[in-house]
Amino acid sequence: MAARDTGPRRRVLTGITTTGTPHLGNYVGAIRPAIAASREAGVESFFFLADYHALIKSDDPARVRRSRQEIAATWLACGLDAERVVFYRQSDIREIPELTWLLTCVTAKGLLNRAHAYKAAVDQNIAAGEDADAGVSAGLYMYPVLMAADILAFNAHRVPVGRDQIQHIEMARDIAQRFNHLHGAAYRAAAGVDGEPFVLPEALIEESVATLPGLDGRKMSKSYDNTIPLFEGGERRLRETIARIVTDSRAPGEPKDPAESHLYAIYRAFASADEARALQADLIAGLGWGEAKQRLFERVERELARRCASATRA
Ligand code: TRP
Repeated sequence: MAARDTGPRRRVLTGITTTGTPHLGNYVGAIRPAIAASREAGVESFFFLADYHALIKSDDPARVRRSRQEIAATWLACGLDAERVVFYRQSDIREIPELTWLLTCVTAKGLLNRAHAYKAAVDQNIAAGEDADAGVSAGLYMYPVLMAADILAFNAHRVPVGRDQIQHIEMARDIAQRFNHLHGAAYRAAAGVDGEPFVLPEALIEESVATLPGLDGRKMSKSYDNTIPLFEGGERRLRETIARIVTDSRAPGEPKDPAESHLYAIYRAFASADEARALQADLIAGLGWGEAKQRLFERVERELARRCASATRA
């Protein structure tokens, strides 16, 4: 048994980048599954504000500070139990940037070349006739290594994230494996223990949740400015934002295709299987988009009212 392995699948860890106001994608991808896992018996949880990651996307300190406060408030409102969970700022842990460098030195540059976010930036540049790396910072390039350090520093077993982050978790595993292979023997000799330096982490993905689409159908992301905020602006803002979800132009009475509808995909992330089947059937039978939006609004409201403290709904 690994010396620093604290038991099967016991440690759960996740972070949220502090660049914007928390949205439904953060909630279904990270917050809801992480809080559920933190309540399992025998689990140790580590949830953090990824403010070093924020520097890759934003150079505005006021924005990062505000986001950090909003995301912290959201975790607490949604049921984080500070007695059971270690809750921290990434930038308070000096060992994370330190470990980042040690991992950098065992990470193949080719691995980072294949990261989706970096590749997307390069593809965009090439399509625009620019230099392949135009506007790409070394920070963006190194993003997966910093994320690996976040996870490996705590030897986390399970990492609740949205599907778009699976590649990053796989990279963390690759990096851990490489480090274990290169330095495992020296580590065992120096520390006088058995086992590997690093646990290989696994992504924890909610089966019912595909990558949550945003208003325009692309992944819900601050970077695309297509998010539905969780609390900002309260009920009114939630209703208004849901009203802006893009749908096709089929009129009430015309059959609609749920598989093509991101409104339906968002609904599914909040609804039970029965509720989802009911909306599916109603859309096929011609339910109007306006009414479907009202159903989504009510379902999200109900979930937030049930699971999250009402005090934050200002
Ligand atoms: N990359 C994650 C996101 O943008 C945030 C993050 C940073 C993270 N470090 C992490 C998530 C470590 C899980 C584990 O959503």
